[in-house]
Amino acid sequence: MIIKNTSKKVACAIGFGRPKEEFMKKDAFFSKMDKIGLTLAYAEVRLKTGYSAVDLSRIDLSSRFSRNVPVNLPIVGSPMDTVTEHKMAISLALEGGIGIIHRSLSPKDQEDELTRVKFHLNGLIRKPVSIQVDDTMKSILNRIADKGYDFRSFPVLDKTGKLVGLLTGNDFEFCLDHKLTAREIMSKDLKTAGEKTTTKEAFGIMVKNKKKILPLINSEKQMVGMYVFTDVKRITTGGSPLYNVDANGNLRVGAAVGIGEDAIERAELLVRKNVDVLVIDTAHGDSKNVLETLKKLKKNFPGVDVVVGNVSQPESAKRLAKVGADGIKVGQGPGSICTTRIVAGVGRPQLTAVYECAKVLRGSNVPVCADGGIKDTGDIPIAIGAGAHTVMLGNMLAGTKEAPGEVRMHKGVPVKVYRGMGSMEAMEASKAARERYGQGESKTEKLIPEGVKGFVPYKGEVSQILFQCKGGLTNGMGYVGASNIKELQKKADFDRISGAGIEESHPHSLLEMEDTSNYKKRG
Ligand code: XMP
Repeated sequence: MIIKNTSKKVACAIGFGRPKEEFMKKDAFFSKMDKIGLTLAYAEVRLKTGYSAVDLSRIDLSSRFSRNVPVNLPIVGSPMDTVTEHKMAISLALEGGIGIIHRSLSPKDQEDELTRVKFHLNGLIRKPVSIQVDDTMKSILNRIADKGYDFRSFPVLDKTGKLVGLLTGNDFEFCLDHKLTAREIMSKDLKTAGEKTTTKEAFGIMVKNKKKILPLINSEKQMVGMYVFTDVKRITTGGSPLYNVDANGNLRVGAAVGIGEDAIERAELLVRKNVDVLVIDTAHGDSKNVLETLKKLKKNFPGVDVVVGNVSQPESAKRLAKVGADGIKVGQGPGSICTTRIVAGVGRPQLTAVYECAKVLRGSNVPVCADGGIKDTGDIPIAIGAGAHTVMLGNMLAGTKEAPGEVRMHKGVPVKVYRGMGSMEAMEASKAARERYGQGESKTEKLIPEGVKGFVPYKGEVSQILFQCKGGLTNGMGYVGASNIKELQKKADFDRISGAGIEESHPHSLLEMEDTSNYKKRG
């Protein structure tokens, strides 16, 4: 069963000035820290445990990324070119979260990535990758390797675009002569259906005819789409109640935009393809250009939520919310690949930044996304306890099968590249990345990087990482005695811990330690 989590539009004005700010347990702790002028990072605190009658199997992790965009798991994929494209966004939405497609892509390519997410549950592949009938097996295999396709079912077309055959896994496996052309090895025993065939009808046809692939053709025999049985079966026989789907039953997905006219043009395409939320993705959200872009986006696309960032000061969060932001992204410098605090000398330890921004937005219906600096699963309940509604992950999702980029070997270990959008390499490659750091017009030899490039270990499927994130959050909530995200935000209280406390928190006094799926050796 797929639960459609379609929260109603809330036409709530930002209620600043109204005396509805609720006092929370943690306020006393942060007020004490404020008095001694101390701002804190996640690692410097732990949540206090409290009486709990919570059944871990019934904990509700649903929350909101923005005013009208709910999630069933409060995890958001960062719009970075080594983190979130369609594969990551699909996996996140299937687990209940949401991915934000990065903008270091042409507007058309970003729109394509979005469409692939939107159509994933639909099962219909609108533009299947096809093979020309005279292509040789050698050229086909080269293309598969070049593009990194992880599927082996290709429709074969003639020069006029008519469907003439299919190449499937078996054809590849049993073809030993790579000089043969698709014409000589393809299967011609096809079952096709009309262009309006629904997913449900396709399931019936495929079961009846024992076909794993069902191409759809128009009256001129031109191929207009294709169904693959594994997708169709999963959709027809029911998905998980956790799927984060829109009112049409399609997966939810967001997309990043920048500032100015480019943002408006991008948004135009993305909104046409039913983007669920736009994210103005900049390093300094509290700036004139961002506020103006936000106003324009809200005016031109009033039905679409706009999340804005990044900020770390409460006044900035408030300013953006007043202008119409539907969500605020908090984080200046906590990211694992960030050097902004070192290069530019600005930023704020993330726990305090999240707490203060969330505090100033209490009662306003504008959620906070804590972006960056999540190192371990235990940082997630801490960030949410501080007031965040969701956390945005870069590093933790990078290096998985679904993250863009190839697996390569580094010092004998399989790794993937993970790079800051302000790293020299990312800025040289894309104007959007340069623009994020206010250097859109700078020449590539005059760039001032605010991030680094590195390698992260290859981690396999992202669902395993998300499973651990969910487990860490759920267990943390159990200790606090919170059965849902709101309760965690309300009941959370913190102890500040010393260096010795941090040391004590990690495994110690062992001759040798074995890594676990959610804890690796440090240093
Ligand atoms: P994590 O810790 O999850 O953080 O790797 C990801 C977040 O870091 C931000 N980001 C950057 N910040 N320089 C920065 O100062 C950069 O090059 C950079 N690239 C990404 C971004 O907010 C992301 O979600």
